[in-house]
Amino acid sequence: MNYPIIRRPRRNRQSEAIRALVQETTVSVNDLIYPMFIMEGQGIKSEVKSMPGIYRYSLNTLLEELKEVTDLGIKCIDLFPNYSEDKKDTFATESYREGTFYLDALKAVKDNFPELALMTDVAMDPYSSDGHDGLVKNGKILNDETLDILAKMAVAQARAGADILGPSDMMDGRVGYIRQALDAEGFTDVSIMSYSVKFASAFYGPFRDALDSAPRFGDKKTYQMNPANVREALIEAALDYEEGADFLMVKPALAYLDVIKTLNQNFDLPIAAYNVSGEYAMIKAAAQNGWLDGNRAMLETLLSIRRAGAKIILTYFAKEFALLQA
Ligand code: PBG
Repeated sequence: MNYPIIRRPRRNRQSEAIRALVQETTVSVNDLIYPMFIMEGQGIKSEVKSMPGIYRYSLNTLLEELKEVTDLGIKCIDLFPNYSEDKKDTFATESYREGTFYLDALKAVKDNFPELALMTDVAMDPYSSDGHDGLVKNGKILNDETLDILAKMAVAQARAGADILGPSDMMDGRVGYIRQALDAEGFTDVSIMSYSVKFASAFYGPFRDALDSAPRFGDKKTYQMNPANVREALIEAALDYEEGADFLMVKPALAYLDVIKTLNQNFDLPIAAYNVSGEYAMIKAAAQNGWLDGNRAMLETLLSIRRAGAKIILTYFAKEFALLQA
């Protein structure tokens, strides 16, 4: 057999060294944001059942954990509060009340870890007795009335020391509204990472367990996007860009890699992707059953999100990834 094969792509895969040379995409701990959960109390470290390895911390245990997390090179966390039912009301008043445990915790984190970039979530759901991201009246989620509440929440979080605010509520006009409120209070340096393209997804289930924040009625389809749409993602992203967002986020990540790619091709802002709770839970559950190699599945997943065009990944795997690199 004398068939001449001129092009042999396998030559570029023949050794670890050559494979490393031709590797197109990498993941670094610099690209990752670690979402974490905090609750009121002392000495608490309570595992989220549907998210093995992820805990709700009280402030003192959180600060201990952050020592480890920052020593591993993680430079940004996104802190979410779990509020008890008795603190929730229709107007999410607790979200901006001076002296509420979450805002005090932000201050403490910032005081103890001044180098850490601290991200927060701007949406009503953890504080709302309706479990919705916006204000509910007669079974409807009101857009413009919600904006005032979001702006108060945003300013309170900025005052507490947040560096990056993440409006995750999907109300129209909220990025511009929040930007204006921040600037009016002198917080021109506080960034906005907009959840620009957030889909009404089944993959948020474990997160809602972590915060006890599932909607009390209906679903989030009048504000979160239809999973079928990508052209609409360009409209959302363009508005957030015009309204002053510093980063554009796509969420979830894995079922929406094409959306990440589309945004990356159309906008010059850094693109972030949220590798959400359900995506984490799937890999963890399969790994615990011995059905796949958890570490390899994690690395492959993070790489795929970077390859699709996300510069930044919010992921519950951040600490595990950092440990593997250490
Ligand atoms: C709240 C919020 C959610 C997530 C981040 N911020 C849940 C939701 O919209 O219902 C999901 C994060 C995850 O699943 O990991 N607005």
